[in-house]
Amino acid sequence: MKLFVFFFFIGLFSIWAKAEEVVAIDTDNSSLIYTINHSNQLIFCYYGQKIDDKEAFSLIESYNKVDTNRDLSYEAYPTYGLGFSNEPALTIIHESGALITELEVSEIRTISKDSLINHIVILLKDRVYNFEIELHLEAYKKEDVINQWIVAHNYESKAIRIGNIYSSFLHFYADKYYLMHFTGSWANEMNLVEEELRSGKKVIESKKGVRTTQTENPSFILSLNHSAEENEGECYGGALAWSGNYRIIFEKDEWNHLNVLSGVNPFLSEYTLKTGEQLETPKMIFSYSSRGLGQLSRNFHNWGRKYALVDGFSPRPIVLNSWEGTYFDFNEKKLTRMMNNAAKIGVEMFVLDDGWFGNKYPRNSDSAGLGDWETNEKKLPHGIDYLIDYAHSKGLKFGIWIEPEMVNPKSVLAEKHPEWIVQSPGREKITLRNQLLLDLTNPEVQDFIYNTIDSLLTVNAGISYLKWDANRHVEQVGSTYLPNDQQMHFWVDYTKGLYNIYRKIRSKYPELIMQVCASGGGRIDFGSLKYHQEFWTSDNTDPLKRLFIQYGVNLIYPPVATASHVSASPNHQTGRITPLKFRFDVAMTGRLGMELQPDHLEEQEVEFAKSAIKTYKKYIRPLITEGDLYRIVSPYDENKWVALMYVSKDKSQAILFAFSTGVHARDVYPILKLNGLNPTRKYKIEEINRINTSSFWGNEKVFSGEFLINNGMEIRISRLFDSAVFKLTEVTK
Ligand code: DGJ
Repeated sequence: MKLFVFFFFIGLFSIWAKAEEVVAIDTDNSSLIYTINHSNQLIFCYYGQKIDDKEAFSLIESYNKVDTNRDLSYEAYPTYGLGFSNEPALTIIHESGALITELEVSEIRTISKDSLINHIVILLKDRVYNFEIELHLEAYKKEDVINQWIVAHNYESKAIRIGNIYSSFLHFYADKYYLMHFTGSWANEMNLVEEELRSGKKVIESKKGVRTTQTENPSFILSLNHSAEENEGECYGGALAWSGNYRIIFEKDEWNHLNVLSGVNPFLSEYTLKTGEQLETPKMIFSYSSRGLGQLSRNFHNWGRKYALVDGFSPRPIVLNSWEGTYFDFNEKKLTRMMNNAAKIGVEMFVLDDGWFGNKYPRNSDSAGLGDWETNEKKLPHGIDYLIDYAHSKGLKFGIWIEPEMVNPKSVLAEKHPEWIVQSPGREKITLRNQLLLDLTNPEVQDFIYNTIDSLLTVNAGISYLKWDANRHVEQVGSTYLPNDQQMHFWVDYTKGLYNIYRKIRSKYPELIMQVCASGGGRIDFGSLKYHQEFWTSDNTDPLKRLFIQYGVNLIYPPVATASHVSASPNHQTGRITPLKFRFDVAMTGRLGMELQPDHLEEQEVEFAKSAIKTYKKYIRPLITEGDLYRIVSPYDENKWVALMYVSKDKSQAILFAFSTGVHARDVYPILKLNGLNPTRKYKIEEINRINTSSFWGNEKVFSGEFLINNGMEIRISRLFDSAVFKLTEVTK
């Protein structure tokens, strides 16, 4: 048997002839390994801890389970037509009506972009038809992340119909499989659920078209044989970079093997590919950790900041967003007053939320005006540029809200372009939050949105932040633009249309800060993050609820992008009353902002806010931006404490946050073991953002990392909503 091992490549572009081979791609700590069998099929062998001895894989003859005449191993990209009836990654309907696809390896290419990324393309061709796919594997060595995606080519003389085309396939074999995924609803996003997978299929999906991450996120964590732990054990994470319909299938088959397919949801999405056309799937991002969830999250955060987020390692400005402070009810005086107060307490960016536009149909509630993106002259007679100048005069930057994919029936836009609205012929259109959706498959609509934003940003030069909202999903799917036989292209073409607009805006306005928002956390995925600096995590700003939501979000997505605002008490969503310090301490675990009317703060609250913001800028923001997250106590633990820590990459500094989220017996305190510090160094501990006496007996003292990791710190927080923040600084003398 001839052996080719592809795990390190020199040269820009090389081609190997096919043979019985091992095809492997490595990161620093993981390997993904395929073989090519005697019938030239690409077989999935292994994904996990790095294995240097690739040769051993060439000895594997077959995973054949039943029939000795046929090799029914798990194909690396299973199609319909071979093997048993597990869910296939690809189904095609050929012009002849043939439904079978059989792929064989025709070529393997390596593409070297830089020394930190390995990229292999495996070309797989159908044995009968002139159809080919490229299976891409891109390994980010330092971050232990592998991206997988497909490009399909139709070289046949007639069009083909693609029934489904997933981005990736993984295969595992263990006694037990435990799946963590994220589920929720509006203002209640990203609740963590862990379940043992049983026989059959578990499906995570969205068919909403827009706001696809509100009820389920296209990401997961899988562990084998035992449930996932924070600091030890193997686990695998996956996240699909796609903001449209998605489906992730976990199929535990009749031999107790687990097959994982991830990609665009095939639901009503048959896609026609004409002769010569190609279709590229979204990327599926995988990571492997042998050191539990903590390392897995850090892999995703490091990869996300470096490769998948705009300005991943740059500090984000502290925002005052007008929404919960004024809702639709504002005028120039109210806004300039808010800016005065914001500037006084150290905020850096004022963001004007919903309500600033529409004249014939003024946007005074959510029932009118969406689509009419001209300044409301009654509320803002001197225009947006007046507000921008005012903000600048106070040393603030200025940002603005927009919801460009949507239209209210009560709008000039709906009157002028009813054909631009997503609709099904002959049916009454159903509104959601009084609004309808524009058809982004239509290039005219894409141009309208791009031009609207372009003119908003050029007429009002000085807008440095755009909050892009989207407050409904797709229901009565249908496009007046797409031909009748391509109505099923809607879902994919809508998301591609959205990405076209994002791309054009980003290339003209590279400095612009963009926040992705969709009724809160409805678009938190690596597809949209590629064009944004941050996401609005949830419309729920209750700090207790946020500890849960942000815990879930930050298992996968970077804290630097997690917008987290201090809002009023009682909270507008939950009615819960919490101390201002608790609200600040929670918001400071992410990208700090405020979302209230500063006029309503008492004098001592203003003083506290001022000092908290100063502390955040000086000590906390740098570590959230560039450091590593270590979770110490999960909100999901029964004991009702929560703790997390950010540690600088060189381990010389850390910030520890601790929260009491329940009522505890008197003198019962948490002991926090500070995994993440360097055991051989010494750290001075100082409580910051403090109101009363310190909650740690050793405040201002120096401790060894060894002590803090193994013995831990006992912190006196036991009443409901007590909280504490500590700065740890390495002491070298
Ligand atoms: C939903 C967003 O999540 C809120 O922050 C706010 O912008 C409203 N929409 C405005 O309509």
